[in-house]
Amino acid sequence: MRDEKSGKRSVGKMPKGRTKLERAWESRAELFLWAKKWRTVLSGSFVRGTTRWFSGARLNITENCLDRHLPLQSDKVAIYWEPNDPDGKGISLTYGELSRAVGRMANVLLSQGVKKGDFVCIYLPMIPEAAIAMLACARIGAVHNFVFGGFSAKSLSDRINDCGARVLITCDVSLRGPKKIDFRVLAEQALAECPKVKKVLFVENGTKRKPLPSLFVSLNKELAKASPICAPTLIGAEDPLFVLYTSGSTGRTKGLLHAAGGYMVYAGYSFNEVFNYQPKEVYWCTADMGWITGHTYSLYGPLLAGATVVMFEGVPTYPTPKRYWEIIEKYRVNIFYTAPTVIRALAAFGPDQVKKLKLKSLRLLGSVGEPLNQEAWHWYHHYIGKGRCPIVDTWWQTETGGILISPPSGGLTKPGSVGLPLPLIDTAIVDSNGKEVRKAGVSGYLCVKGPWPGLAKTILNDSARFVKGYFSKIKGYYFSGDAAWRDSDGYYFVSGRVDDVMNVSGQRIGSAEVENALCLHPDVAEASVVSYRHEIKGEGIYAFIVLKRDRLDADLLREELVVAVARSIGPTAKPGKIQIVTGLPKTRSGKIMRRLLRRLAAGESCVGEDLSTLTDQNVIVDIAKGIVGEK
Ligand code: WT7
Repeated sequence: MRDEKSGKRSVGKMPKGRTKLERAWESRAELFLWAKKWRTVLSGSFVRGTTRWFSGARLNITENCLDRHLPLQSDKVAIYWEPNDPDGKGISLTYGELSRAVGRMANVLLSQGVKKGDFVCIYLPMIPEAAIAMLACARIGAVHNFVFGGFSAKSLSDRINDCGARVLITCDVSLRGPKKIDFRVLAEQALAECPKVKKVLFVENGTKRKPLPSLFVSLNKELAKASPICAPTLIGAEDPLFVLYTSGSTGRTKGLLHAAGGYMVYAGYSFNEVFNYQPKEVYWCTADMGWITGHTYSLYGPLLAGATVVMFEGVPTYPTPKRYWEIIEKYRVNIFYTAPTVIRALAAFGPDQVKKLKLKSLRLLGSVGEPLNQEAWHWYHHYIGKGRCPIVDTWWQTETGGILISPPSGGLTKPGSVGLPLPLIDTAIVDSNGKEVRKAGVSGYLCVKGPWPGLAKTILNDSARFVKGYFSKIKGYYFSGDAAWRDSDGYYFVSGRVDDVMNVSGQRIGSAEVENALCLHPDVAEASVVSYRHEIKGEGIYAFIVLKRDRLDADLLREELVVAVARSIGPTAKPGKIQIVTGLPKTRSGKIMRRLLRRLAAGESCVGEDLSTLTDQNVIVDIAKGIVGEK
């Protein structure tokens, strides 16, 4: 703890009357550097979704991620960056170098007029500038809004406009396996819809020499001129650090706003609890910065711990499906954290790809984003972990800021289970009447009973939706939107979402978003979208379409629809199956019963379902006749 004025350590007296939970979080928070201590550890009301953490405190997270490590480990590698091309030149940045790179970028932002509290949109692939830009925003108290590179121009412009960013940081190209993705063109298309954007800070990472449009400023040139030293701007613990958009059950994506103090404490705390990082270890989380996993466990969590991280530009299958394993060998990765869809995709290439791997450095394996099915768990354990590395399957969400449930470090792991809530985390399974389910084997809603510092503050521009979505469905609890059950050891098993949110290759996509995109097609009258089980992606997207007019060229129509969805949202949201139907199952109040469509898409019948509220039960029979099977 440092006193803001004198710069001296000041521990301060602990006010009386703090609860055990507050004292516990306070002791966790004291492990970090704060410019000013908090007045209260926790205030506000959890059940109303208004908790405040470490109010009155002032800090800058980058002091904790960078400056604090400089006296003892300025020469330790912070980031090993591995390019897409295996023969390309990698980059390693020590803590000293990263700190100076962040200083330069922060000074460029300041020189472009970015101020504390301003939103800055970052649309970058996995290049070092992605990490540097996030930290540079944090350095000057600006709020970053990182948009995943796989999102379309429209998704990008929606996210820029929702937060009101005036500055966009982007680049020329993204190299993903054999593909070159033209970020510049996507950004230019998006900007046509973003009148507020005044500056585009542009990483010239391509070979194109087309002159830059007038809004664009070359970051390469500006960084070369900038000073590497930039004093941190102190912000309040409750001030925002970043906004990150994710899908909900309505067509509008929601920007979850995370505050600096609580997020920092939770990112650091959970990183240590789950991965138990040791000083010399190399850690690799494969998540793109565009997801919360990228924020918390590719960047902030490990840097708070002073860890060495690997950052990879490319994809797991290029040039061969051994690419990830070769990277693990090259950098002697000890802790590896990835997604089930990656494991399933690589397992599908057969045992020859992995048989001769040594992978001796590995100590711990992690998984996140969707259920890790037993088969994938065993493959991961056997071929990658060689039977000796524990697997931590971790459950959490964009909203929760960090991991809430995970097998205890050094403790028992069970295939298919995400383990136990982390210490200080109080999760519960609750039935639809709001009563806790204590019996083993009985499924219910996965909820959280008490506050933790990582929880998002609100949804940007829609605080009512935040309270309604997470704190109203089950009174007194945070409602996650997932279903789960526990075994007799209390181990949690997550079965999936209970709302109209799908999980395709670990990416969250709202049914309503895809439906909106489909309905923009001039021939589509109505659409309803559900997910079905998919071998590799976990879930695939099944679209039921009612047309305004007959189309004899149904295959062409399907192609048009797939393109329309990719343009509107991004390639991951493309429906894998499209069925043209004469009507959708609707209740008398006009609500489409996606539950029935989900059963039909799974190849099941609707026998036993209550169909009495449907206006027309015949549509079910018709739809069942035309179900699209496995391709
Ligand atoms: C949803 C959150 C949390 C980082 C990545 C995704 C699903 C997440 C698991 C897991 C089963 C999981 C849930 C959750 N999910 N982890 N270990 N086992 N399901 O973040 O995009 O906010 O998605 O992903 O359904 O609600 P997100």
